[in-house]
Amino acid sequence: MPNIVPNIVVDWNSHLYRQFEDERTRPARDLLARIDLETASLAVDLGCGPGNSTELLVTRFPQATVIGLDTSEDMLKSARARLPGCRFEKADIAAWHPGKSPDLIYANASLQWVGDHERLMPRLFSELAPGGVLAFQMPDNREEPSHRLMRETAAEGPWSQIIGDAAAVRLKVLPLAAYYDMLAPGAAAIEIWRTTYHHPMPSAAAIVNWVRGTGLRPFIDPLSEAQQAAFLSDYEKRIGQAYPPHPDGRLILAFPRIFLVARRKT
Ligand SMILES: C[S@@+](CC[C@H](N)C(=O)[O-])C[C@H]1O[C@@H](n2cnc3c(N)ncnc32)[C@H](O)[C@@H]1O
Repeated sequence: MPNIVPNIVVDWNSHLYRQFEDERTRPARDLLARIDLETASLAVDLGCGPGNSTELLVTRFPQATVIGLDTSEDMLKSARARLPGCRFEKADIAAWHPGKSPDLIYANASLQWVGDHERLMPRLFSELAPGGVLAFQMPDNREEPSHRLMRETAAEGPWSQIIGDAAAVRLKVLPLAAYYDMLAPGAAAIEIWRTTYHHPMPSAAAIVNWVRGTGLRPFIDPLSEAQQAAFLSDYEKRIGQAYPPHPDGRLILAFPRIFLVARRKT
C-alpha cells in the first residue's frame, strides 16, 4: 500500500518556524555540504519555508537561477522579504513539474509532508537534467518522546475526536533501503545517512514551541483557543517528564534525521 498523506491543510507560521532557525538550518547545511556539483544553472528548493534553505543554495551557486516553492503564503511572503532577488512560487510538490530540467532538486525538511514516496522520489529524480542531483533531508522523529507524546496527549484528552488521526498528515518515512532501491537504477552515485542532533533546550516550554512551528500543527489547528491552551499545557507536562533537566538546567532534545543525495546518470 502506498503511504498516502490525507489532504489536511496545515497552517504554517513563518514567525514560529523562525524561532529555531539556526537549529533547523544546520541539517540544511549538512545536506548541501555533501552535494558534489561544481556549478548549477537551475536549482529548485522544494518546501522552501521562509527562505533559510534557499539562501544557502544562492550562496553556494551564485550563478544559478534558484527557485523556491512552497504551498504556504505566509512562508512565501517571509522568503520573498529575505531574498528579494529570488523567484518564489506557490506550488504543491506532489503536483509540481519543472518547465526546464533542474541540475539540483533540493528539499530540506519538506518531503515528509508529501505522500506516496514510492512514486514521488523516482518522479523527482527523473525530472533532473542528466548528471543532476536530488538531495533531501527528512526528520525521522516519530518515535521520539516529542512526537509520541503528541499522539498520547491527543488520544487521552477530551479533544481526541476533534483531532482524529492528525499524526497521519505527516508521512512515516520509509526504511532507508527503500529509498536506495527506488533511486539506484537511474543513479550514478547515492549517499544515504542518518544523524541524531542533540539540541540543548532551555525548558520544556521551548521544546513545545519548537514543535508548534511544525509537527504539532495538525494536532492543535483543529482546536478552539481554549482547547489549544489546555492541550499545550498537558503536552508540556508530559514533555517535562520525558526530558529531565541536566545539571546545567537544560534539556536535551534528540532529533534524528535522514539524508539522501543521489546523482542521476549522465
Ligand atoms: C519544515 S519546513 C522546511 C523549510 C525549509 N526548507 C528549511 O530548510 O527549514 C517545511 C515546508 O514545506 C512546506 N510544504 C509542506 N508540504 C508541501 C507541499 N506539498 N508542497 C510544497 N511545500 C510544502 C511547508 O509549507 C513548509 O514551509
